[in-house]
Amino acid sequence: MQFDRRHILITGASGGIGSALAHALAAEKASLLLHGRNAQALTALADECRQLGAGNVQTCIADLTTAEGRGALVSHVQRDFLRLDTLINNAGISRFQLFNQQTPGQIEQLLASNINAPVLLTHALITSLLETQGEPPVILNIGSAFGAIGFPGYSTYCASKGALRLFTEALAREYSDTALRVQYLAPRATRTRINSDRANAMTAATGSSIDSPECVAQAALQLLRSGHAQAAIGWPEKLLVRLNGLRPELISRVLRKQLAKIKTFANQPDTGA
Ligand SMILES: NC(=O)c1ccc[n+]([C@@H]2O[C@H](COP(=O)([O-])OP(=O)(O)OC[C@H]3O[C@@H](n4cnc5c(N)ncnc54)[C@H](OP(=O)(O)O)[C@@H]3O)[C@@H](O)[C@H]2O)c1
Repeated sequence: MQFDRRHILITGASGGIGSALAHALAAEKASLLLHGRNAQALTALADECRQLGAGNVQTCIADLTTAEGRGALVSHVQRDFLRLDTLINNAGISRFQLFNQQTPGQIEQLLASNINAPVLLTHALITSLLETQGEPPVILNIGSAFGAIGFPGYSTYCASKGALRLFTEALAREYSDTALRVQYLAPRATRTRINSDRANAMTAATGSSIDSPECVAQAALQLLRSGHAQAAIGWPEKLLVRLNGLRPELISRVLRKQLAKIKTFANQPDTGA
């Protein structure tokens, strides 16, 4: 894939993984539409991307959980960005909390952000992507290892990422007779502000690794270059995902042994993620 010919929309570009993706694609001279909700962070990121050698760099502020926000982003693409060939659905939120301690509003907000928003944004942009001239169109959805392993304390997040994983797979198969490629990347825990202190403490206490956002960005570029349907990051997570598909009871047994530890971190009714 020649990134310098690509016109790429990154949602959630103002976040940890989104910014690292923007930097990595800018260094490859791609043209970028950087989306987020924080105008100041996006302006600074756009300047950095221009300095790194990106082609055309634009920004768009929009809340993707609202029809108005998605409409504003789609209008920006059609009016100003013109030649979208790559959509990276990266924006998302997380919540590490016992299910019965989450409020209905928090559950709705998470599902609206992590599954409704990318599905509806993809729906609004897919015709433009299919009709794009030049580079073959690509949609890359940023999922999670928790999209394939149900993990205690992350029930709603797992539901959203599992849905995104199957959405990606179905869409890829539905459009496999066109030039459109639909891909899915499953990072494991990554050092960004999406994870609360207690989520990070639980990750450390259970002996799991934490990647840098730059490592995730490089994996995303590798996946885009490869054209493969999906990729996961890190061992033993890749193995655990496979094992969970084949013998879920084995993973249930492992997680049952860690449950008390996980619950000491999850069992805190605060308002953070
Ligand atoms: N970090 C991890 O451990 C990890 C692991 C696996 C997968 N992931 C996935 O990676 C993706 C990026 O996460 P991250 O770690 O980079 O988190 P992050 O630093 O918190 O960034 C999240 C981004 O999404 C944006 N966003 C959230 N809700 C939005 C909404 N309603 N409308 C528009 N934008 C919204 C945020 O905008 P604001 O800046 O305005 O808040 C921010 O730009 C997410 O899909 C996440 O689930 C992360």
